[in-house]
Amino acid sequence: MTAPAPTDPVLAEVFSYLEQHGSKFVDDLCQLLRIPSVSADSQFASDVRQAAGWLVEHLQAFEGEGLEVELIETPGHPLVYAESPPVPGAPVALVYGHYDVQPPDPLDEWTSPPFEPTERDGNLYARGATDDKGQMLTHVKSVEAWLATVGKLPLQVKLLIEGEEEVGSENLEAFIANNTVKLACDCVVVSDTAQFAPGIPAITYGLRGIAYYEIHLTGPNSDLHSGVFGGAVTNPANTLHKMLAAITDDEGRIQLPGFYDDVAELTDREREQFRELPFDEQAFQDQLDVKGLTGEAGYSTLERRWARPSFDVNGIWGGYQGEGAKTVLPGRANAKFSFRLVPNQDPKKITASLRAFLEPLVPPGITMELIDYHGAPGIAMSLESPYIEAAADAIETGFGSRPVFMREGGSIPIVNTFAEQLNADVLLLGWGQNDDNLHAPNEKFCLADFHRGIRASAALWRQLARRKAEGGRREN
Ligand code: BES
Ligand code: ZN
Repeated sequence: MTAPAPTDPVLAEVFSYLEQHGSKFVDDLCQLLRIPSVSADSQFASDVRQAAGWLVEHLQAFEGEGLEVELIETPGHPLVYAESPPVPGAPVALVYGHYDVQPPDPLDEWTSPPFEPTERDGNLYARGATDDKGQMLTHVKSVEAWLATVGKLPLQVKLLIEGEEEVGSENLEAFIANNTVKLACDCVVVSDTAQFAPGIPAITYGLRGIAYYEIHLTGPNSDLHSGVFGGAVTNPANTLHKMLAAITDDEGRIQLPGFYDDVAELTDREREQFRELPFDEQAFQDQLDVKGLTGEAGYSTLERRWARPSFDVNGIWGGYQGEGAKTVLPGRANAKFSFRLVPNQDPKKITASLRAFLEPLVPPGITMELIDYHGAPGIAMSLESPYIEAAADAIETGFGSRPVFMREGGSIPIVNTFAEQLNADVLLLGWGQNDDNLHAPNEKFCLADFHRGIRASAALWRQLARRKAEGGRREN
């Protein structure tokens, strides 16, 4: 679906620039996608820095138009920051995105290599295509189009692009707390989520939070012959599976004491709104090639995915993994696991409850190490903001249909910090699709959505500039 050309002459000029430069924008995206900026793995540290450098250089092309660009060091990966000049009377928009990506494994399941962007059937395949390089770049390109045609933006835009979103955004959190004046804004624009379905764009008003852990169980000082020692020496792998299994019941209800105490329940109105969305459960199963779904009793699939907590083992290892059988009692067993949290649950409280729950389950002969990686609370935002209307209008201009309002099950840890520290409305305007394979092999971004997203972003600056929230932004 393509929207008609805008009647607004200024926007029409910007859109004609987008039309002319569309294939150049895809080339630019491909350049960025070729840089393997995997933040979780220190082997890629110099690539992560290179991606930041690429963005800085790319944005510097518009310094002549008044865009000020900075590479900001943090104790971890650097931040890329740019801002256009203030526009009196217009609101300030802060765009947030991330240039880091998830690890590409398992490599042998990619049809084309993860860091060699390849176009197939109108989609661009590469790690980071949708999450978040492609989506983030839509805003960079719309800023470019305004500056290249009109020469200035109709409002002040601040761009803040980080390299640690996929590892919990801890350094960004400190940066925001120390730079509330620099980052002061009326609304924060984030494109790092998905549309409801093809042809149904969305504004997301809720995200789940997260609490992520790694567990190491150590038994005897070496792997042992399972015939000689099995049955008398406690097996760490047996113990690990029992401990992990104890965390949920058969319906996926989490058994940690107090886990549900703070959970914000869905209202009847919200459940009704979820039911009204055109969700096709059979199509969802078909997309995943699964013959059935399981989850917490009393809740629909969308409710389970968007607004109920969940527990997942993310990786588990130990013992013999090679070909054939090996009779071994492994000396160690390990797992990575995480909870998705919903509004009002506190990740710190969850960690305390988890430790108290797991410690008594450790049998004689085993020691446990539990590592707390990162946590972030969930969020559900009010839809009562003039900027939401502006965003809905801009999406209609870019995508040709009005967005639905939905929640998502994924997490963007820093969104809470923006809402609290900057007192700004956060607009989650996702251009992705549910089958984009983010965090999985064959990640993709639909190129038509890339171009529609750029148009919606270009229209957003126009729409936001027309509105200034009552009471405005907090002056820090
Ligand atoms: N873009 C995702 C978040 C997302 C995905 C939101 C799909 C809604 C729908 C983001 O890059 C992400 O993956 N975040 C991590 C955060 C974690 C590592 C702290 C996540 O949700 O796993
Ligand atoms: Zn991600």
